Amino acid sequence: MSLDIVILAAGQGTRMRSALPKVLHPVAGNSMLGHVIHRARELSPQSIQVVIGHGADMVRERLAADDLNFVLQDKQLGTGHAVAQAVPELSADTVLILYGDVPLIEVQTLQRLLTLVNDQQLGLLTVDLDDPTGYGRIVRDANNRVSAIVEHKDANEAQKAIKEGNTGILAVPGKRLGDWLSRLSNNNAQGEYYLTDVIAMAVSDGLTVATAQPLDAMEVQGANDRKQLAELERHYQLREAHRLMALGVTLRDPARFDVRGEVTVGRDVMIDINVILEGRVVIEDDVSIGPNCVIKNTTLRKGSIIKANSHLEGAIVGEGADAGPFARLRPGSVLGPKAHVGNFVELKNAELGEGAKAGHLSYLGDAVIGARTNIGAGTITCNYDGANKHKTVMGEDVFIGSNNSLVAPVDISSGATTAAGSTINQNVAAEQLAVARARQRNIDGWKRPVKIEKY
Ligand code: UD1
Ligand code: CA
Repeated sequence: MSLDIVILAAGQGTRMRSALPKVLHPVAGNSMLGHVIHRARELSPQSIQVVIGHGADMVRERLAADDLNFVLQDKQLGTGHAVAQAVPELSADTVLILYGDVPLIEVQTLQRLLTLVNDQQLGLLTVDLDDPTGYGRIVRDANNRVSAIVEHKDANEAQKAIKEGNTGILAVPGKRLGDWLSRLSNNNAQGEYYLTDVIAMAVSDGLTVATAQPLDAMEVQGANDRKQLAELERHYQLREAHRLMALGVTLRDPARFDVRGEVTVGRDVMIDINVILEGRVVIEDDVSIGPNCVIKNTTLRKGSIIKANSHLEGAIVGEGADAGPFARLRPGSVLGPKAHVGNFVELKNAELGEGAKAGHLSYLGDAVIGARTNIGAGTITCNYDGANKHKTVMGEDVFIGSNNSLVAPVDISSGATTAAGSTINQNVAAEQLAVARARQRNIDGWKRPVKIEKY
């Protein structure tokens, strides 16, 4: 069975009160439309059509990809009109219609819906709601078969009492769709071409309408305003927290944990409160992450420890290594096994070898640091001359005294020592001691200045 997917994303979203088109508003760091496209791809369709209108240029620019075809709906004349714009692009046996502002839909729900559709049958996703205000109502005949959908604004009192609502998500036989859409009229309460009128047409053409329901009503919840957006965000986060806990992660508080990307986890991982994981994050077994850490596009190898208030981006933390509290690992930071980075240490494009240590108050940029080397407190690499970046290279078992300035390019070979307070701008050979600071003078009989009286 071949599949085309049409994603409706042309609506304005007035209630967002935003310059950003509604479907670009983010849930968990990805646009709502981005989530829907991700789901669509999981179904391996032959095409994905995205119907755009409001903010079309911005939507196209942000989401452009080889496997997406954008279709412009100039005026938003209704959901039926929106799908009709994509019809010339469709050729598959089945057409699945998704909404660009309904981001939490699960792939299993869509797969179940797709099993219902064939030449003689449509698949319609419905949801039972305590308060179905605003939703199209699913009208069933005496045999409980779906006969039509009536929009809230067109419904009579008896129809308004129906609790089964239309999610808008629908799978139809592709061959029939164009014909039905061409027969739609806008003679209704909103003066729109309703996609939902296709249901009654299909029934009168002798097809049946089979229904499926999502496992969780939040899957089909759209976001029309920022309150609903926040509800989707919280729901997404809780779902992600539950998924990670099921894989063997301890979350000190699942309500204070956010994922904005894709996270892979091992077992017996411990995550304290207010941790944000962004982009692609890989967390191996026995890792511990302290409170208030932001970790982006980073790999944490087995048994590594990230202490409170650390910020990591584009880093690799080796087996048994630790960083923080208040560590900042910027892109290109690599900590070898059992390496240690303490408080107020910033690394950028810097590698610490196995067991190497930078305990306090340092900036290490464009540096390669050998195994077991110790970087004294307050040490900085002067890696930038105002025009270019230069490299600092240290061998194994180097001892850098406190408060050193290492003026790159500079090489400090294995076993070398530098004295505290040194400015090192020449290479140091293996096992040498480099002292590069003014000699101390002690002056006898020094008179301190006295305060001058003011009148
Ligand atoms: C629609 C359904 C209703 C269902 C509800 C679920 C119709 C007529 N009604 O109503 O049965 O219960 O969704 O939320 O289909 N869009 C376009 N172009 C348009 C109009 C809409 O792309 O011309 C897009 C919107 O951006 C949105 C989706 O289609 O993503 C739904 O449109 P919306 O106006 O929210 O439909 P509802 O009136 O809520
Ligand atoms: Ca809606």
